[in-house]
Amino acid sequence: MRAVRYHGPRRPLTLESVATPAPGPGEVLVRVTAAGICHTDLHFLSGLLDLGVAPLTLGHEVVGRIERTGEGVAASRAGERVIVYYYAGCGACERCLVGDENLCDALRAEYGFVSDGGFAEWVRVPARNALPLPAHVSDAEAAPIGCAVTTAVHAAALAGVGLGDWAVIFGAGAVGFGLVQVARLRGARVIAVGRTPAKLEKARELGAEHTVRAGAEDVAKRVREITGGHGANVVFELVATKETMEASLGALAKRGRLVFVGYSEDRLQVHPIQLVVGEQVVTASVGCTLAELRRSVELVADGRVRTVVDRTLPLEGFQDGLDALQRGALVGRAVLIP
Ligand SMILES: NC(=O)c1ccc[n+]([C@@H]2O[C@H](COP(=O)([O-])OP(=O)(O)OC[C@H]3O[C@@H](n4cnc5c(N)ncnc54)[C@H](OP(=O)(O)O)[C@@H]3O)[C@@H](O)[C@H]2O)c1
Ligand SMILES: [Zn+2]
Ligand SMILES: [Zn+2]
Repeated sequence: MRAVRYHGPRRPLTLESVATPAPGPGEVLVRVTAAGICHTDLHFLSGLLDLGVAPLTLGHEVVGRIERTGEGVAASRAGERVIVYYYAGCGACERCLVGDENLCDALRAEYGFVSDGGFAEWVRVPARNALPLPAHVSDAEAAPIGCAVTTAVHAAALAGVGLGDWAVIFGAGAVGFGLVQVARLRGARVIAVGRTPAKLEKARELGAEHTVRAGAEDVAKRVREITGGHGANVVFELVATKETMEASLGALAKRGRLVFVGYSEDRLQVHPIQLVVGEQVVTASVGCTLAELRRSVELVADGRVRTVVDRTLPLEGFQDGLDALQRGALVGRAVLIP
């Protein structure tokens, strides 16, 4: 089969011919029909994220159709349209026992991170990692649920975003669009921060009450003005450069929570006194649980959350997709259609 292969940091991805996997016991073979390109894939390429596994097929926002079932899996599942949960926890540690597979220390697999993912014609995953998708959600539309929407659902829950909170979404990309909607659904008032007007326009369309242009406006000052001088109760960092982190901290209210979802080469620099006087919290969010993926599918299926797909590309168009993402030229996701 054809697969887009990662060969380690700062080396180009290549389209190659590799063996088509066969489903083992408890597994299913999924014919991939859509796979979103996440900004995290760029972090793999730059080496900022280096999990030490190569060669590897990237792609962790994966949608497809079950084509074959392994031993012990109901044969009736063949033909099902599914979305992939990209973690396969050990199932035995304390984290896994409470469903927090994203924090498992003994992962059996992590598709698109340390195990072959969806930038390929087929992917092999445990049957429990393949969740059914309703027919009215298209393949391309569904792909970003796998990371962009689930990451938003998880981060907003962890941050305890609630009724009447002011939430700043710093970075109007795919995850940011998810967060704008999820924060709104949880009762928050949303301020989206970004640089590209078309992305801020999209954020407004999805429920942001205010938008702030980073670079052109003093973000912390604007957020304080909008919030009557108090600042935001929650700031989600999807960019996390030195400049944006300073603005994020400056925008935070007393008892405010700064939540890292994104990261860059830069380090967080903050004097503890700045946090102490306002009892502020710096925290972070990674991935999601299987239950949160199911909830995310429901949100999109019910029309309460929309995914934003800028374009679809054939598998061989992967480099165009990555380049466009790197340039900031995409409003939402580029989705590969293998
Ligand atoms: N923790 C997790 O579980 C998790 C999951 C998924 C993704 N992530 C991470 O979260 C981050 C966002 O991912 P994504 O896929 O949403 O990326 P994305 O689609 O590229 O969105 C990020 C957006 O940030 C904006 N931006 C860049 N520099 C900015 C600045 N200085 N000020 C304001 N806005 C700026 C860009 O738009 P402009 O054109 O407006 O600059 C860009 O569209 C990445 O670091 C990714 O690795 C983490
Ligand atoms: Zn992702
Ligand atoms: Zn575990």
